[in-house]
Amino acid sequence: MDTIKKTHRDYQAIIGGTAASSRNYLEKRWNQYYFKTYKHVVSRMIGGLESCAGKTVLDVGTSHGNWYSFLKGQGFANLLGVELDPGRAELAKKSGYTEVYNCDAANIPLPDKSVDLAVSNDVFVHILQLEDKAAVLKEIQRVLKPGGVFIFNQTMSPAHGVRNFTIDKHCSYLNLDELIRLVTENTGFSIEDIKPTYFSFGNKHFSLIANILRHSFILIPGGVSLRFRRDLLLSGILSLEQSDSVYLKLRK
Ligand SMILES: C[S@@+](CC[C@H](N)C(=O)[O-])C[C@H]1O[C@@H](n2cnc3c(N)ncnc32)[C@H](O)[C@@H]1O
Repeated sequence: MDTIKKTHRDYQAIIGGTAASSRNYLEKRWNQYYFKTYKHVVSRMIGGLESCAGKTVLDVGTSHGNWYSFLKGQGFANLLGVELDPGRAELAKKSGYTEVYNCDAANIPLPDKSVDLAVSNDVFVHILQLEDKAAVLKEIQRVLKPGGVFIFNQTMSPAHGVRNFTIDKHCSYLNLDELIRLVTENTGFSIEDIKPTYFSFGNKHFSLIANILRHSFILIPGGVSLRFRRDLLLSGILSLEQSDSVYLKLRK
């Protein structure tokens, strides 16, 4: 039996599949949709230009630099990134970040209390082990200034048909209680806000016909916006855990 725990480092080559690496039109449309829902939540949590202008932001897990334009548009003056994969770190640096550190986010070469805001999108789902997620949270807490904010998302286990913490190949899922415990037991962050993102209802269990319909819908003109608006409606009705991933806003 294989008793060696797999970590994010074992899957480094395949966990950068993002908006920048869509292989076809269908993937592009899905990525547009995910990005739209994420940007909607993150911009509401960041809270406007006056809280960003002239400040330093740290993007944890930049991949190719997909979030650069959005963060620049928020008014940050100093845009830093951390990325595990050397090739993707280099691409992110070329996209415009002031600096991208090619290292694990559990060990960032930045001084204590040097960052105003940190953000991390679709990264914690790939940090498989709880102790590694905790190490990254502690490191972000260290580099944030007092009063600084960390906004990140984590994929929910109930939305993926499992109740508790589960590792499934290169992804790991938590329920909301486990996520809150991970934060409160390992850091002094206070949790200021939690928001859902999108609802796909465990699509890997869908029948072939249902999947064809889902994909056709996203392809029609306006399909991305319609699905986005459907999610806004659902977020008023369904529980946070039924959303595929939730965002947390933490304050140091
Ligand atoms: C799915 S991509 C998301 C990229 C980008 N944030 C986005 O939303 O498009 C996850 C990225 O996080 C990086 N990553 C995962 N674990 C990391 C860690 N512990 N430290 C630094 N980077 C990490 C991966 O190499 C990968 O490029």
